Amino acid sequence: MKELRLFISGLGHVGRALLGRLSEPDAADFAACGLADSSGAFSAPGGLGREALPGLAEGKRLGGRLADLAPGCGLRREAGIREALEASGAGILVELAPTDPLTGGPALVTALAALELGMDLVFASKGALVAAWDRLEAAASAGGGRILHSATVGGGMPVIDAGRAFSRGNPIQRIEALLNGTSVYVLSMMEGGLSVEQAVAQAQAAGLAEADPSADLDGLDAACKLCILARSVMGLPLALGDVERQSVREASPEAVASALERGERLRAVAVLERTGGGLSASVRLGSVPASSPLARTGSENAVIFHSLNAGDLTVLGKGAGPRETASAVYRDLLVLRDLRQGL
Ligand SMILES: NC(=O)c1ccc[n+]([C@@H]2O[C@H](COP(=O)([O-])OP(=O)(O)OC[C@H]3O[C@@H](n4cnc5c(N)ncnc54)[C@H](OP(=O)(O)O)[C@@H]3O)[C@@H](O)[C@H]2O)c1
Repeated sequence: MKELRLFISGLGHVGRALLGRLSEPDAADFAACGLADSSGAFSAPGGLGREALPGLAEGKRLGGRLADLAPGCGLRREAGIREALEASGAGILVELAPTDPLTGGPALVTALAALELGMDLVFASKGALVAAWDRLEAAASAGGGRILHSATVGGGMPVIDAGRAFSRGNPIQRIEALLNGTSVYVLSMMEGGLSVEQAVAQAQAAGLAEADPSADLDGLDAACKLCILARSVMGLPLALGDVERQSVREASPEAVASALERGERLRAVAVLERTGGGLSASVRLGSVPASSPLARTGSENAVIFHSLNAGDLTVLGKGAGPRETASAVYRDLLVLRDLRQGL
């Protein structure tokens, strides 16, 4: 089989882990033919050798810019992202740039350019999907490309895949979930007596929270995931502004302790529910019984799909992490490979 040519936009935690995955011997079906980071967009129409990928990932991990690393590994700088996509000859864009759910950010511009060129698309970044789902779908159907985004919800867990399979002929009525590992971690740490501020500092020290943890703590990240689940599992639109949100920063040590005394745990629970013809959605602090799948500790995620005809389906696991997220991206790449082979 001819190699599938990839363009990878974004070489941060997830992008570097993906380069590592693509350097493994069983990934010989794929070739990286174009890359982009914040320093520019680059092409390698002949494909980067698999042996070059770990060194490139290490160069990025050490803070290198593609603009500086490119000449040493056969990448050519192009005038812009569209030119680089075209010059690379890639058939699949892997979009791993930062999430901007309000405008879609550069990821949306890159995605639309790729779809116009007829490319397939694999997203780990959520912003473009949240900001412009309909535009992306229209561009995909005009260009004949496909959009996969398993990595956008639940990291390596196949939350979207499981929800979609379960919902066939069996509408999902309600989803209850812990969709943000940082929030779970902070509330778990507070159960050991830490204040919110101390727990956030500990999450940052453990590499679980960003320097600015607002998107995680204030429910924005979970709200984005609800918007994507609404479309992909319930088949309905949900605007980010329609998700009611409460911040983990509002959790008092007293509320955490009194939930524990009652045999419960305080968690930031994301809920998506059918209401008449539409959906209601929220990310709010609530007490869950200690025996509930939603009483996760550490930084685990949990998703419960409540269906019309087949009861509940629960998915539990590690909801984020570069290696896990890159494995979901790789899973989507294998799906595209099989589709292209007519399997
Ligand atoms: N980390 C996770 O566990 C996880 C899980 C699920 C989904 N995601 C999503 O996946 C995406 C990547 O996450 P991450 O943790 O790898 O983020 P990250 O470490 O912040 O990396 C972002 C990358 O995007 C690059 N970038 C910035 N502007 C760009 C542009 N205009 N064009 C192309 N690339 C650009 C950055 O370039 P520089 O290297 O030059 O700064 C960096 O390489 C995010 O949208 C995130 O929300 C992450």
